[in-house]
Amino acid sequence: MKPTIRLAISLPLAVASAAAFAAPDWSKIPARNITVFHAGATPFEWISSEHPGASVVKAGQACIVCHETKKGLDYTAKRLAKHEPDAQAMPKTVSFPVSVQAAVDKGTLNVRLSFTPPADARAGSDAANELKAAIMLLDDKVPQAALAGCWTSCHKDMRGMPGGDAKKGKYVSAGSFELLQWKSGKTQAALPAGVKVESGKDGDKTTVTFSRKLGGSVVEGRSVPFGIAIHANRAAGRMHYISLGYRLGVGGAAGEVQAKKL
Ligand code: HEC
Repeated sequence: MKPTIRLAISLPLAVASAAAFAAPDWSKIPARNITVFHAGATPFEWISSEHPGASVVKAGQACIVCHETKKGLDYTAKRLAKHEPDAQAMPKTVSFPVSVQAAVDKGTLNVRLSFTPPADARAGSDAANELKAAIMLLDDKVPQAALAGCWTSCHKDMRGMPGGDAKKGKYVSAGSFELLQWKSGKTQAALPAGVKVESGKDGDKTTVTFSRKLGGSVVEGRSVPFGIAIHANRAAGRMHYISLGYRLGVGGAAGEVQAKKL
């Protein structure tokens, strides 16, 4: 009797949510591979001063121009380890690919991430969530948003940084950003109003789809700067794998990831 009751309770919910955000046919939408990596403590202050690419970024060149070569993002553990003050925190797998697809359907932007989180990352302190996946959408008032993505919100005085302020989270010097985060645990996903998220698992692969109503800084014809963050193996705070800055071309606008209107 018990299984039947459970089924009766969960089934209408599942059907209702599937109908509410009927997904595009993802098999017809091209995927862009984006590498996410453990970046250690490399705040925007470091990126825009000591870092070898600083002056080039200031002159208007995007991070991916230097860091995303034909061979892919080759961040060796050794190179990044020098930017990781917590020696124990350096994961064995320093980077992995996330397949990204996007589409605009019925006034909604859908962004789908598919990835296999590395199993060897050091276990973190998030007891409630094994895995978290997020995208950050930045508006065009954030200085250098289209070049540097999430880095524009990452500062040396934030919590988790060496000598950082425990009360300080991410912030940008002007403009604003939205963080759309899915969590694998029972707690609610961290989502702004008008955003839904669905997830699925196929073997080791996890798929997370964010659906955000168009509006504000995310409208057709805009190149929306964005980045990805994956917290694997119960990671918390800055112990995530992140992407460089990319642009979402909404409704045909320029962008490494295209979100075409269906
Ligand atoms: C002009 C080319 C160039 C641009 C543009 C550039 N970088 Fe770099 N970046 C470098 C070089 C060269 C290194 C040093 C690589 C090494 O240590 O061997 C580096 C190092 C790094 C590192 C430390 C890891 C490492 O390999 O040492 C990070 C993280 C990083 N860059 C992020 C960024 C971000 C974020 C941006 C955009 C805001 C950016 N870079 C733009 C050239 C560039």
